[in-house]
Amino acid sequence: MISIVGAGKIGAVIAFLCASNGLDDILLINRTKTKAIGESIDIVNSIPDTSQFSIHGTDDYSKLSGSKIVVISSSVSIYLKTRVENLDLQVNMIRDIAKKIKQYCPSAIVLIVSNPLDVLTYFFHKESQLNRFKVIGIASSLDTSRFHHFLSEKFNVPLSSISNTMVLGEHGDTMVPIFSNILINNTPLLSKINEHEIDLITKSVKNYWKELRKYKSRSQFGIAKKTYDVIDAIINSKELEIPAAVVLKGEWGIKDVSMGIPVKINSEGVFEIQKININEKELALLKKSSNQIRNNIKSVQIQG
Ligand SMILES: NC(=O)c1ccc[n+]([C@@H]2O[C@H](COP(=O)([O-])OP(=O)(O)OC[C@H]3O[C@@H](n4cnc5c(N)ncnc54)[C@H](OP(=O)(O)O)[C@@H]3O)[C@@H](O)[C@H]2O)c1
Repeated sequence: MISIVGAGKIGAVIAFLCASNGLDDILLINRTKTKAIGESIDIVNSIPDTSQFSIHGTDDYSKLSGSKIVVISSSVSIYLKTRVENLDLQVNMIRDIAKKIKQYCPSAIVLIVSNPLDVLTYFFHKESQLNRFKVIGIASSLDTSRFHHFLSEKFNVPLSSISNTMVLGEHGDTMVPIFSNILINNTPLLSKINEHEIDLITKSVKNYWKELRKYKSRSQFGIAKKTYDVIDAIINSKELEIPAAVVLKGEWGIKDVSMGIPVKINSEGVFEIQKININEKELALLKKSSNQIRNNIKSVQIQG
């Protein structure tokens, strides 16, 4: 069973993708029960007729029992200016959810989508004490797609002409787009752009969400698809290489924070943290990003 805690804009699209592709049974849990029920009786009609699976909505956490995967896409309210705006409230929310998951489905693989992503992944792991490779924050793969999109627009080439795009670090203002490995039609990107252009593209990737919000209230489809891809890899035993957030214990020279780094995922969750070559400047920015996340973690006011 795939359980989704938080049946809002993103949770509902993740549920729709899982249901319409007939992946597994789905449980939607939401603070306001009627929303979970409403989404489930709408999404149920997208399940293929040949499927043996179903979808249900509830506010009862005991129904988590038997979950193979739990996605957390709940949010106490939506931030306006920065992803850490509701930091304390979100951390306290995720600690409560961690307790419930530990109680009802301690063997589940947990995918965290809620913001601030890196801080919540860290606190979920700390509270639940689940294996760190089974607690995965999904966001850097979305940032990577945004970066890829900007490069495609700037160089007027299809997405398929660009390879090795990656964004690492915080899902926030210190995220680090990695330019040094990118090839465009097999030519190194760094031979085509100067520092000023690197800064402009970096800024555009960081501010993508602000630009999007000029046109619609907030993003949902990109992150839902990135999360679906991980669920699909777990359920169907596929190997997936993406940047995602896990708690680090010295990998990349960083420990006691969770942040986006390249990982390999299969049916068991993360099975390898990859080390790729990046240049000195990018490495320094990545350390800076980890320090920013650590400062955010330290600033949290824990309740209870
Ligand atoms: N990782 C990424 O790259 C990425 C990208 C975009 C957004 N996000 C984040 O994803 C999260 C969800 O965004 P959204 O647009 O889907 O938000 P949303 O539409 O406001 O949905 C959030 C849902 O969470 C529910 N909720 C709140 N507390 C809960 C709890 N303790 N238990 C169960 N459900 C609870 C709310 O219930 P009610 O019906 O009672 O309000 C609401 O339905 C946000 O934190 C957002 O910042 C992440």
